[in-house]
Amino acid sequence: MTQAQQPERAPQRSLDPHLHRYARRTAGMTASQIRALFAVASRPEVVSLAGGMPYLPALPMESLAEEVARVVDSEGLTALQYGSAQGTVELREQICEVMALEGISAHPDDVTVTVGSQMALDMVTRIFCDPDDVVLAEAPSYVGALTTFASYQAQVVHVAMDDDGLVPAALRAALGSLRAQGRTPKFLYTVPNFHNPAGVTLAVPRRAEILEICAEHDVLVIEDNPYGLLGFEGQTYPALRACDPVNVVYLGSFSKTFAPGLRVGWALAPHAVREKLVLAAESATLCPPAFTQTVVSRYLATHDWKGQIKTYREAYRERRDAMLDALEHYLPGCTWTHPAGGFYVWLTVPEGLDTKAMLPRAVTQRVAYVPGTAFYADSLGSRQMRLSFCYPTAERITEGVRRLAAVLDGETELLATFGSVGPRAVSGPQAPSPDTA
Ligand SMILES: Cc1ncc(COP(=O)(O)O)c(C=O)c1O
Repeated sequence: MTQAQQPERAPQRSLDPHLHRYARRTAGMTASQIRALFAVASRPEVVSLAGGMPYLPALPMESLAEEVARVVDSEGLTALQYGSAQGTVELREQICEVMALEGISAHPDDVTVTVGSQMALDMVTRIFCDPDDVVLAEAPSYVGALTTFASYQAQVVHVAMDDDGLVPAALRAALGSLRAQGRTPKFLYTVPNFHNPAGVTLAVPRRAEILEICAEHDVLVIEDNPYGLLGFEGQTYPALRACDPVNVVYLGSFSKTFAPGLRVGWALAPHAVREKLVLAAESATLCPPAFTQTVVSRYLATHDWKGQIKTYREAYRERRDAMLDALEHYLPGCTWTHPAGGFYVWLTVPEGLDTKAMLPRAVTQRVAYVPGTAFYADSLGSRQMRLSFCYPTAERITEGVRRLAAVLDGETELLATFGSVGPRAVSGPQAPSPDTA
């Protein structure tokens, strides 16, 4: 049949009758691979090494329940009311004390409380990025940041990391090449401590160098630091913001050191930027919830919150050790990072294997992880995966890694038989997609 004889095709109809109405920016809004995974990975028979959920059983639930009841009882009229767009003064003062642990000297006026640091990321991107603006981000980068950047139609240029974090020479090269194209990135987004997903920490001598390079190229630094107090030996590192109060916007959170369900985070920004952030936050939420801010304030005032962070750190160190031991034992053909804190190990599988393609088979073998491609804006990372050790017990982690090893063995066999391992190498119902399994 020639082209002219082809029957006319009916225009493709979308299942979404509102498709023609959406703003262009929604094109970048696609469900993250992590979100699709949560539904599957939360089944009890699956060992989930996927989600980065804090180990909440370590919290003193009874005394927290009493504290929450006290907030309603004695502060209900303010805690249940609208509040200031910038957050309560008391919490902002306490946040300054928390940040002082990493060398930051800040005034509460420069702190804006947000609904988790995710909202701070959104606000920062909203006030700085026009469509097609470039932002620099580590390779790999936190998936929530990448989805935010995509939703504002910003273009991400990744900068290489090694075991000591962001590589200064790679940053210079990326800036040089952008300059040659007449482009200046709006900011560098970085997670210097116990990186999500890479598990590495920016070496202290590199910190000044990175700040210098950014200042030289007039690039703002967005320092995202939710894990900084979770060093397994109790070690902390000087925040970038501590070294440069002018060119760094610092994002913090109580999600990993206390509880993510409260959704309390913050941004510490140079004064002028703070003004814009508050206006952006006001248009999004009017004000952060007074109730959860008050709960956090009371918790910080009445509980041994530093002792609680130590309890968390010890739980995570034990789990990290279990994961590294299991990797050593079961996965000799792979390489991985050795986190000194935080929640994550970044694993590289042997050449020829594809972590995204094999995920459905891993889930049928009752282990879940996040494929490396989720953490790149440019689909790199097919040989990597993020393994979280924060939530499962040490025994479950060992079992999860054992199952993962069996999956990798199966993949290697398929590779030897078929020469490539794609989603179609195993057919039929035993290969469900991660969101339907
Ligand atoms: C690097 C990083 N930034 C930000 C967030 C968001 O945290 P929050 O719960 O404060 O919104 C996360 C959560 O996993 C994270 O890992």
